[in-house]
Amino acid sequence: MCGIVAYLGNREAYPILIEGLRKLEYRGYDSAGVALMQGNTIQMYKKKGRVDELDSYCASKDRHGNAGIAHTRWATHGEPNEENAHPHVSEDGTIALIHNGIIENYLSLKKGLLAEGVTFKSETDTEVLVHLIRRVQEKEQVSLPDAVMLALSMVEGTYALAILSVDDPDQLVVAKKGSPLLIGTEGNEFFVASDGAPIVGFTQDVVYLDDGDVGVLRLGQPIKIKNINDEQHLLKRPSFHKLELTLEQLEKGGFDTFMLKEIFEQPKAVRDSMRGRINLKKDVVSLGGIIEYEQKMLNAKRFIIVACGTSWHAGLVAEYIFESLVRVPVEVEYASEFRYRNPIIHEDDVLIAISQSGETADTLAAVEIGKKHGATVIGICNVVGSTLARETMAGSYTHAGPEIGVASTKAFTAQVTVLALMALSLAKKKGTISKSEYHKLISDLETIPEKISQVLEQEQHIQRIAQYVATRPNALFLGRGVNYPVALEGALKLKEISYIHAEGYPAAEIKHGPIALVDNTMPVIVIATEQETYDKVVSNVQEIIARKGTIISVVTEGDTAVKKMSKFCIEIPKTEELLTPLVASVPLQLLAYHVAVIRDCDVDKPRNLAKSVSVE
Ligand code: AGP
Ligand code: GLU
Repeated sequence: MCGIVAYLGNREAYPILIEGLRKLEYRGYDSAGVALMQGNTIQMYKKKGRVDELDSYCASKDRHGNAGIAHTRWATHGEPNEENAHPHVSEDGTIALIHNGIIENYLSLKKGLLAEGVTFKSETDTEVLVHLIRRVQEKEQVSLPDAVMLALSMVEGTYALAILSVDDPDQLVVAKKGSPLLIGTEGNEFFVASDGAPIVGFTQDVVYLDDGDVGVLRLGQPIKIKNINDEQHLLKRPSFHKLELTLEQLEKGGFDTFMLKEIFEQPKAVRDSMRGRINLKKDVVSLGGIIEYEQKMLNAKRFIIVACGTSWHAGLVAEYIFESLVRVPVEVEYASEFRYRNPIIHEDDVLIAISQSGETADTLAAVEIGKKHGATVIGICNVVGSTLARETMAGSYTHAGPEIGVASTKAFTAQVTVLALMALSLAKKKGTISKSEYHKLISDLETIPEKISQVLEQEQHIQRIAQYVATRPNALFLGRGVNYPVALEGALKLKEISYIHAEGYPAAEIKHGPIALVDNTMPVIVIATEQETYDKVVSNVQEIIARKGTIISVVTEGDTAVKKMSKFCIEIPKTEELLTPLVASVPLQLLAYHVAVIRDCDVDKPRNLAKSVSVE
């Protein structure tokens, strides 16, 4: 959830750290802090609020130092304020630590430390760690790395840590379990961060730490890694990878916000998610990442899809696509509910976990449950090397490129594309789809990027509609069949970036209560594209108009019936019904975006939210 950055090398650390925090701010921005090693003292500055506020505060401070740690927080324990901001230091000021994650047993650990006379300054779970490590170091008279390993063996929960100690100013200790942490190396410099964004400008050679790893970084020496789960604490050989990020991917590319850039990147994102996976000549769809488990997937008696938020909506779309094409039951579960309801899982189930970040705590926990029950666990995620990518048996990357805006857009359309490819590949091999249907869908899939581009050309028209919606306190989104999840997604987009209360419903469901909300102040956004149940949607629209509701419709080009009944209408290119969400979701993203801009909301960093919910 929050972002951590650390540096050890021969340059001034501060500029590297503060710029790194800016690149991680999408992970959380309640408060920010930095600690610098200055000779044999740790100089620390921290502020509630954004990184810019910390930077302004530090402008007049002593910011020298070649080693440092920095943190931008999304609070889980203790409100967003200066005391709870990271870094946290030991009582004697000899150790400073930053943390991403949750210490589940922090209360019992804190009780023990309080009993030993430790005084706490914050309400955070994190502060327990720094005191525990210091106490272990004093009691056992061991080095910082050894004290970290001993202390972490008592800790339950998740963490990505970076730790400085005045006892060894040329050393940085890092540790990882359940939250992401990378180490970049360039010459004798070390760059540590929650993801590649702060590192890519300096090096593309990175090591992804594994759960249980404790790393020791020391000037002029190679990375040393041990794992707390290895009783012999033998040194692990670091495995280097190439970062696939580029700096320009991380910039806004001339757009006002990352979200708008990512909405307009969707033709490319969908194309990239198909790249190398559709071979029209050979008439095959192949997803390399799941080949090894393809037989398991072909024999699956059930697919269980686990995800959160927008990824859960992609899973709902997949339910319609898989059941229609593969003819195997699909169950779509909120990961946060699934993990606690003692679910019934069989070995011939296939669990598909969908996550843009690959770090969503609830989704990762659901993966562990699937594995524990012997199911085949497949991941669909957008971040190479993320925890989900490493914890699942197989999977497919969506290749949508970094998604920085908190509101997920191109990840959604890329996820649905990959899920459609997966369903088509399985259906063809199982013989549950006719050749003609298969070709129709594959051919239509190839045209989706162009169809999205056509919708994006209507941005100004959608901006005008946004002028109207921006004045409304509420909104309803309706869709039927495969467009019902699109209605949910449209509602989520609007509420999470414009703060207008919005709800999505299956169109027919409106009669069972929600229509009571309809009056002349209620905009009702209806996805009424060409589909089997189109005539039913028309009836639903009429029911709303009869109660003075205002219709904003998304229809297939050439529509007349619903268009005539709409105050505003957005026409999208004709698309195969099962693939409509790939196109119909785009105007709703743009609508939410422009409503939020008109309402002067922070589109890329909406209040109370963070890009990756890696805590529960
Ligand atoms: C979507 O716009 C939200 N940012 C949020 O619901 C998000 O989809 C959810 O937190 C899941 O994230 P993930 O895909 O990274 O797992
Ligand atoms: N649990 C820690 C805190 O509340 C870290 C939170 C996070 O990872 O966002 O400060």
